[in-house]
Amino acid sequence: MAMVCLSDFEAYAKKYLPKTAWDFFAAGADDGTTRDDNILAYKRIRFRPRMLRDVSVMDIRTKLLGTEISFPVGIAPTGFHQLAWPDGEKSTARAAKAMNICYIASTYSTSSLEEISAAAPGGFQWFQLYIHRNRAVSKQLVQQAEALGFQGLVLTADLPYTGKRRDDVRNGFRLPPHMSLKNLEAAFEVCKMIYLDPSVTWNDIYWLQSLTHLPIILKGILTKEDAELAVRHGVQGIIVSNHGGRQLDGGPATIDALVEVVEAVQGRVEVYLDGGIRKGSDVLKALALGAKCVFIGRPALWGLAYKGEEGLQDVLRILRDEFRLSMALTG
Ligand code: FNR
Repeated sequence: MAMVCLSDFEAYAKKYLPKTAWDFFAAGADDGTTRDDNILAYKRIRFRPRMLRDVSVMDIRTKLLGTEISFPVGIAPTGFHQLAWPDGEKSTARAAKAMNICYIASTYSTSSLEEISAAAPGGFQWFQLYIHRNRAVSKQLVQQAEALGFQGLVLTADLPYTGKRRDDVRNGFRLPPHMSLKNLEAAFEVCKMIYLDPSVTWNDIYWLQSLTHLPIILKGILTKEDAELAVRHGVQGIIVSNHGGRQLDGGPATIDALVEVVEAVQGRVEVYLDGGIRKGSDVLKALALGAKCVFIGRPALWGLAYKGEEGLQDVLRILRDEFRLSMALTG
């Protein structure tokens, strides 16, 4: 089968992944309104293309907090990559490095931070943190990420509790016994159960700043009010995100929320977006509305499911080439 667009990888993943894994990747919260709207919202936006502008040479590189990437797409943090491909996050790290883009590794990875960093030495990686009730666990992860050379700390703000994903409930979804949350293994041995901390507030950004010199990027912001608070609390970046519609159902599509966040921030920090990016023209729409870069969640998992790091590179190349073409055709 010729893989021409990201939907081809989605169809492949749906066909060949075990049902429980596919359902976990695809899940949205409740009846999936926000998840689906993330995609539909791009279809409501139209370009105003300009003609007869020399597009024979185009530069699609950009910088994230000073680090150059080859085009403005990165890998959003998603858990459990071994459900898609045996080498899991190690393959993701290698693909991101080969394409010279940023990979945000999840707290809930099935490879450890050491393994991820060793798989792609010198690769551009950020670490995504969920804060746990046992703060010592979170502190240790942050400091380990910094020591291993991760270049940014992404704090996910939209998951005080996990959203209700109906298929996961129906399937009784759990990680298969031969996989584990490698970053939390040591903590599991001591505590048996570790819980997310639903009492996290803005003040915890100061706590994180006291633990690390890494820039902090806040993920999950959807309003101008929170964007203003994020800037005032000294974060260096904001990811406009609704967690791929897996948390609150009924919130806005991220591309619709982007505009008010960009307006509120007024260039004081970098603004990125994730959610529903499926075509190069979606990337261009997000950039035109003020995002510096976008991140992909599910499409990266589909690429892994297709052929590991090669499949993920295929997905990224398709997005890159479609993005470049959209730039040219819009002038
Ligand atoms: C996620 N997401 C997520 N976010 C996060 O901060 N930490 C995590 O561990 C995860 N895990 C996760 C697993 C799976 C299977 C999915 C689909 C998503 C959310 C993710 O970072 C991102 O916000 C969305 O995936 C973006 O939407 P698209 O690109 O999937 O439409």
